[in-house]
Amino acid sequence: MYNKEMLESMAKVAANRAANTDFEPRRMTAEEKETLLATYHPDYKEHEFRILSVGPNKGGKVPTELSALLQAHSRIRDVKLDLNDPAYDVDVLIIGGGGAGAAAAIEANEAGANVLVVTKLRMGDANTMMAEGGIQAADKPNDSPAIHYVDAFGGGHFAAIPELLYKLVNEAPGAIKWLSDLGVEFDKTPDGTMVTTHGGGTSRKRMHAAKDYSGAEIMRTLRDEVLNRQIPVADFTAAIELIKDENGRASGAVLMNMETGELLVAKAKTVIIATGGAGRLHYQGFPTSNHYGATADGLILGYRAGAELLYADTLQYHPTGAAYPEQIFGALVTEKVRSLGAKLVNVNGEVFMHPLETRDVSAASIIRECSDRGNGVHTDDGVGVWLDTPMIERKGGEGTIEKRIPAMLRMFAKYGIDIRKEPILVYPTLHYQNGGLKIRADGQTNVENLYVAGEAVGGIHGRNRLMGNSLLDIIVFGRNAGVNAAAKAKETTVGALNLDHVAAFEKELADAGIETDLVSPKLLPTYTHGNPKFEAK
Ligand code: FUM
Repeated sequence: MYNKEMLESMAKVAANRAANTDFEPRRMTAEEKETLLATYHPDYKEHEFRILSVGPNKGGKVPTELSALLQAHSRIRDVKLDLNDPAYDVDVLIIGGGGAGAAAAIEANEAGANVLVVTKLRMGDANTMMAEGGIQAADKPNDSPAIHYVDAFGGGHFAAIPELLYKLVNEAPGAIKWLSDLGVEFDKTPDGTMVTTHGGGTSRKRMHAAKDYSGAEIMRTLRDEVLNRQIPVADFTAAIELIKDENGRASGAVLMNMETGELLVAKAKTVIIATGGAGRLHYQGFPTSNHYGATADGLILGYRAGAELLYADTLQYHPTGAAYPEQIFGALVTEKVRSLGAKLVNVNGEVFMHPLETRDVSAASIIRECSDRGNGVHTDDGVGVWLDTPMIERKGGEGTIEKRIPAMLRMFAKYGIDIRKEPILVYPTLHYQNGGLKIRADGQTNVENLYVAGEAVGGIHGRNRLMGNSLLDIIVFGRNAGVNAAAKAKETTVGALNLDHVAAFEKELADAGIETDLVSPKLLPTYTHGNPKFEAK
């Protein structure tokens, strides 16, 4: 259990709790934020990045771990495949069974397309399922999409692609209605009004939630809808390479059965990548809040086929990953905990920042507190700061935690920690890929007939995303990709299939003098501590 330092510090936190609950910390100035980020945020550690030598972003900067996979060999480089005898022949092939893939599948099916969803794990094994705090939409009288835009644009360092962000915020109220109509049980007051809260960087309360398991509630509903519509889903089936036709259009994928290793060909008129994020690449050695399959696969498939990346050098480290106990190290402690009134407190029991700064600023501030300032709390194998959860009940009344964040209460209770009475220890955890494949407003990449939706897209949020805008983007851009890919499929006749781009990429690697044993996409993380006996081949 708690060591001496933790116990002594907890006593200081308890002693200061009443004063700290009432204390209103000031927000940082723009200059303070800039200096803080440049000094402490992991995105600014230049030695953790590499310059790409091949592909559409040659000369661009990406994290070292991603660069190794982008510049690795194809899994089928020595394999002969008969592309003329596809196991599947569909209008729209969707790669990924999370929220974006499911939303795309529903809309493409609604438009009359013949759809296939392939997913390397099971439908719903995705970051959507793990999302906790909520989904943003400006649908209250004191709010508007324009205000939502300004919050998100500023929070993303003014780097969001305007037409993508415009679409996100303007279609947000409709996304909430669509989800409600499908059956998502959002939190409401007895008169039916949606309960909304603040998130970091929001100037209005526009976070709609289903307690603190908003993503699970949304994924449950979308998965039911996919099943009810009898849309075909191939579980445990990974896409390991895109296929093009003689006109250079995306026209299917090579699939691998995850259990048998068997390779299959799926032919399609249009393809949607909805493969999610990259937390399981553990950039810079960070733990992650992501699901087991988050290994950047879609970025690899798209890149090798010639699709451009945007902002692949920017990641989101969620400020509050669990730092203790070690069984849940890196697990998400939702930002909603701070929205409800918990503050971040250092080893001396001092509130050291405003609890709802934007995520990159909050994460950098915690890292500074634990490093140069020496104000972190040391566990037996790590460090963190307190998130003083009992403040929530002081502020909102007894029972608030059980009512609003029951999953947090349960997660810590399993380890004997009652978050109504004790603070919890947190440290940043790798949470989200701000960058990804570049799309136009219709969801299409620079490769014709290749669409992308969800976390695999780069540019919607700029260089930092606000809480609740990811559950929103998987719905808005998932639906968008489904509608547009279905429409494009109607006007597409697929030409002769080929894998010439794979051979061309291999040649580029050789010409650039890149020698590597790695193959990609990675598909699953490796936790073998360097023991080759347990490495996936
Ligand atoms: O803190 C959270 O609940 C995470 C939300 C998000 O990433 O949007």
